[in-house]
Amino acid sequence: MVKAQWPRIVMRRHDNLDAEAGDRGGRKRCQLSLHHASHLLPIIASKRQYAYNWPMLEKPRLADPFLRPITYLRVSVTDRCDFRCTYCMSENMEFLPKRDLLSLEELDRICTLFIRLGVRKLRITGGEPLVRRGIMEFFTRISRHLGDGLDELTLTTNGSQLARFAGHLWEAGVRRVNVSLDTLDDEKFSEITRWGRLKQVLNGIETARDTGLRIKINTVALKGFNENELFLLTDWCADHDMDITFIEVMPMGNIESQQRLGSYWPLSDLRRRLATRFTLTDIPLRTGGPARYVRAEENGQRIGFITPLTHNFCESCNRVRLTCAGELFMCLGQDDKAEFRDLMRSYPNDDDPIIEAIRDAIRRKPRGHDFDYSRRRVAGRVPRHMSHTGG
Ligand code: 5AD
Ligand code: SF4
Repeated sequence: MVKAQWPRIVMRRHDNLDAEAGDRGGRKRCQLSLHHASHLLPIIASKRQYAYNWPMLEKPRLADPFLRPITYLRVSVTDRCDFRCTYCMSENMEFLPKRDLLSLEELDRICTLFIRLGVRKLRITGGEPLVRRGIMEFFTRISRHLGDGLDELTLTTNGSQLARFAGHLWEAGVRRVNVSLDTLDDEKFSEITRWGRLKQVLNGIETARDTGLRIKINTVALKGFNENELFLLTDWCADHDMDITFIEVMPMGNIESQQRLGSYWPLSDLRRRLATRFTLTDIPLRTGGPARYVRAEENGQRIGFITPLTHNFCESCNRVRLTCAGELFMCLGQDDKAEFRDLMRSYPNDDDPIIEAIRDAIRRKPRGHDFDYSRRRVAGRVPRHMSHTGG
């Protein structure tokens, strides 16, 4: 039965579900104040705990047609990268000309509007976000929202520029960083990233950790490539007190023409192999995305699995993605998008049409995605490159 808990107002914050382990997205009881009220949603005592917009609010928070609150925005700030990972980019990528990219001011403007509409977590991605010129100015400016609408400012990086920027990121209020790393072998690293150097990334990780940043490692699982490093990578993360998440390789871009090193390695198999050495206990941490987590009892290591090809996460999806060209994708696996670059340029001094367009886009967020290797038809695959949409 669906029952709102009135009049004792117990609120559930639909933010910060991606918080530290101890947090686990648990309920936080809050004093009701006008300031806070706009960020809070009443608990619905239904099984699935779907939230809906509080009708008394003058400016309702964003929620899609399936009543999923949209609290997480991933923003790709560039399609460029100093690496060319084989599963992500072709060797000769054509990048967007500068005029097609959102300027740093435009990025700030649209992120700020999303925050006003209830987004509480921003993840900056790319391409490689740290190769965008002036990106630290953006971090510094957008950090004004931390504690005032925004709970977390974070990024996903390949780590190549971390040694340079870790201190600045910390000063801008960044506390956690995801670093992509698929192998600990020098040669294999150069093969898979084409242009990368492992040492530079490891230096970056070390500097970031020394600065106080918490690092999570993202590893794309590739059959025949890093299968034999499963325990090496996991142990290395455990030794350095870093979480690790394995990602199933996704059918992005024109995969037929990419000479991919390694290939699809189902995480079900990866997990079975981990279980030969570790006792894996599911942990109920949910981030609103596709990640599922376990703890290895033997060393306490948290291990995540991202299986974007399954549909097991869509019902709790809390996110949308903005590309560096100002397109908003409501679902990583669907083509529908809304365009914001030209709209913002048409209304330099009026945010109302932008806000209306954001609401409109969110109303079109689909129930689920359309990845499917088995269908093997072009239309069933998403032709975008990850470096364009942001992972
Ligand atoms: N499949 C899975 N993960 C990918 N990434 C990039 N391309 C793909 C793909 N085709 C990952 C990177 C990084 C994040 C930005 O996206 O490894 O972790
Ligand atoms: Fe660059 Fe990341 Fe793509 Fe590799 S996966 S080419 S590091 S954006």
